[in-house]
Amino acid sequence: MSETKSAPPAVGKHPDLVVREVSPLNAGPTLDALVAHETTPNEWFFVRNHGDIPEVDAATYQFSIDGLVEKPMDLSLGDLARLPRRTVFATLECAGNRRDELSTVTPIPGELPWGAEAISSATWEGVALADVLALAGPRPEAQHVEFVGLDPTERLGRRFGFGGSIPLAKALAAEVLLADRMNGEPLPPTHGFPLRVVVPGYLGARSVKWLSRIELLAEPSKNYFQDHAYRLFPPWMNASNVDWHSGMMLGDLPVTSVIAAPETGAELPAGSTPVSGYAYVGGGRGIARVDLSIDGGATWRPTELGPEMGPWGWRLFSANVELHAGEHELIVRAWDGSAQTQPAAIADVWNFKGYANNAWHRVRVRVV
Ligand code: MTE
Repeated sequence: MSETKSAPPAVGKHPDLVVREVSPLNAGPTLDALVAHETTPNEWFFVRNHGDIPEVDAATYQFSIDGLVEKPMDLSLGDLARLPRRTVFATLECAGNRRDELSTVTPIPGELPWGAEAISSATWEGVALADVLALAGPRPEAQHVEFVGLDPTERLGRRFGFGGSIPLAKALAAEVLLADRMNGEPLPPTHGFPLRVVVPGYLGARSVKWLSRIELLAEPSKNYFQDHAYRLFPPWMNASNVDWHSGMMLGDLPVTSVIAAPETGAELPAGSTPVSGYAYVGGGRGIARVDLSIDGGATWRPTELGPEMGPWGWRLFSANVELHAGEHELIVRAWDGSAQTQPAAIADVWNFKGYANNAWHRVRVRVV
């Protein structure tokens, strides 16, 4: 699971992706590529897989809707073509983004050692999930909408498709799509061809790729990836004493920000130094401000925000700072539209699965 560089890891993906795992493929952009564009080019978009990428024939592809609905049904892409088209710009962030920083507090074995690259942004196009659900008619008892993918995964001795659920109220929101296009191109195989869910604002795990089934439920999904994984456990729990049901289910992601350049360990010439990065928050709350410190958090200064990309997108930021010779700790923290900000210390957000790290991002550089 350590970082490797290899030949192009998958069709349509950039050869310089940082590969965290070869099989299943888990990879993300270099940080400079990540913040080079507001819209992440498809070849650079991070990839998070739990099983092999399924090969799907779009001509015969169908997914089912069942459970607590009036009319269970199977739908093809042709059926979806009759529904209105919708577009949303949305950032997807994996709950495991920035896990490597958490591992410096206490190691997190058995999980991918993501740096700050498990995040990317795209313009997604497809149909509103609400319009699709309306065809089947949710029954009054339905409270949650479960999605299951075609990719087989194996956990606790069982084989099943990757999946998870979101509350019905979120599923009916205008921003939640069944997407068949990404940045103006057909959805690439790595990203869920021919159809994936896009749940803007939520942890990436709910944006299920290669959709095979939608089931309406009274309770949240019992799929392993909702019932065990992708939960936030208290700091006194670890793999040996975990009570799986004590974990909080993740939904909207907390406000976070990252310095993409310079990176920790950089040796820089004294003088004016460009600093750039990204800030993101779930829940459609938007980034209000990004603060930068060059003295370990003693004082703060403003950064310039890049274009606003709508409620579901990140904001890139930049600043120029004067650095004199010596060691420096640069820190970033963002504020969201609800005036919430990030915790200062990594240790305060440590959890044994390594999710939702949104502590201040710190970069140590040497100026010569
Ligand atoms: N859907 C399926 N079917 N299988 C998966 O392994 N991974 C999830 C989600 N959807 C996954 C999936 C996770 S954890 C994330 S963060 C996002 O897909 C990543 O989407 P991407 O690979 O398009 O970046």
